[in-house]
Amino acid sequence: MVQAEVTKMKVPFLDLRVADAVQRSDLLAAAERVFCHGRLVMGPEVGELEEQLAKRCGRKFAVGVGSGTDALFLAVKALGLDEGDEIITTSLSWVATANAIAVNGLMPVFADIGDDLNIDPVSVAGLINERTRAILPVHFTGKVCAMDRLEAIAEEHGLAIIEDACQAFDARLGKRRAGSFGMVSCFSMNPMKVFAAAGEAGMVLTDDEEVYRQLVALRYNGTVNREVCIEASLNGRQDTLQAAILLRRLSGVEQIIAKRRQIARWYDEQLAQLVEVPREEEGQFDIYYTYTIRTPRRDELKNYLEEQGVETKIQHAPLMPDQPVYADCPRAEIANARRLIGQVLCIPANEKLERADVDYVAECIKRFFKEK
Ligand SMILES: Cc1ncc(COP(=O)(O)O)c(C=O)c1O
Repeated sequence: MVQAEVTKMKVPFLDLRVADAVQRSDLLAAAERVFCHGRLVMGPEVGELEEQLAKRCGRKFAVGVGSGTDALFLAVKALGLDEGDEIITTSLSWVATANAIAVNGLMPVFADIGDDLNIDPVSVAGLINERTRAILPVHFTGKVCAMDRLEAIAEEHGLAIIEDACQAFDARLGKRRAGSFGMVSCFSMNPMKVFAAAGEAGMVLTDDEEVYRQLVALRYNGTVNREVCIEASLNGRQDTLQAAILLRRLSGVEQIIAKRRQIARWYDEQLAQLVEVPREEEGQFDIYYTYTIRTPRRDELKNYLEEQGVETKIQHAPLMPDQPVYADCPRAEIANARRLIGQVLCIPANEKLERADVDYVAECIKRFFKEK
């Protein structure tokens, strides 16, 4: 029997163009206002964005910075730890997470992950020693970690929590939002993120006034006024243009997340019998920064999807403890992380996709498992 030719489509992982004319002119108008007042770095829009994000996350203070990397670097630095102190983090994240610890002269210690791809609290507990000072969990893929359990561990051992919420803007666990947990929280608003600037941007949040004061000084070369530097640091200030764009986009972020959650449900329905799909437990509200499936046949599937015009990503290989720079750092057994990093595949799930795109990707995956 001759099989019907399947029409090939192109499904990009992301499309960062602003194709909608109304949105484009709205963003251009926001940029024009910045050009009119001329305060191009740390202008009034930065302060307004700080205020809005602090309020949204139920935090007392927010500090606008140049990127998520800046946010993490400054958050760790603001805790004022001593060289060689240890911070326990996950094995699976973008390497910026571990770098923020290491460039501050501290030791990253890598915990294993669970099947939800987030840090495993049992593994964290097993790594604590007299040098441990903090836990740095990452809400990977836009799913909040098991924060209740991590908070209990932190409290029992007197550790700070630094929250890497870079992938999880507006994600929730019960009534609590990403950005509201621990001593200090970090967001990235780079263009790939769900809440995205048109370039690099980040935000640090805290309820602690002393940490806030530190962050403000550290954000600009450790200066407390135009002249006096109290601590060596870097320039992590935020561009006003990015803040202006983020303020315009803030009102649309819930719609973007709703669409991503809809896409996730469309995929769930079609793929749950074939691959491991992301699962939301009771009380979790995931934002699907990525829709990450798992299969032992990941590499074959990735190649097949590429042939079919579907762009996919593996986020983030190698594991952080397997990066050459971290070869000598302490770690748990990380057996689960090692197994899962060979299986994960992020398939297109951005809010610009139509139902037809999602169905095409799902059809390609179904065809792969039927025919290959
Ligand atoms: C989990 C995580 N941490 C940190 C970062 C760093 O953020 P940025 O790219 O804004 O520097 C990212 C962004 O890629 C991230 O996904």
